[in-house]
Amino acid sequence: MDFDAHMRPHKLCLCKGVSRQDIAEAVKGGADTFRKLVEKTHATTGCGTCYVEVYAAFCEEREKLKAAQAGQETLKF
Ligand code: FES
Repeated sequence: MDFDAHMRPHKLCLCKGVSRQDIAEAVKGGADTFRKLVEKTHATTGCGTCYVEVYAAFCEEREKLKAAQAGQETLKF
């Protein structure tokens, strides 16, 4: 059973309701810079306390996408 499919996605940015999945989808949809990600999702534009977490998620998702495009396996730790 896929429990993740039944769970409400964890919000990285509470002010704008942006989840990790939203960030992944924005990156896949062409947000290749942090500015573009913010324009698409509005993450970090409220109180700003989520900046570090959102930026880290953006970097990870961008690297995953680059690895997938290069046909490489990503390492999971
Ligand atoms: S939690 Fe993201 S801007 Fe406030």
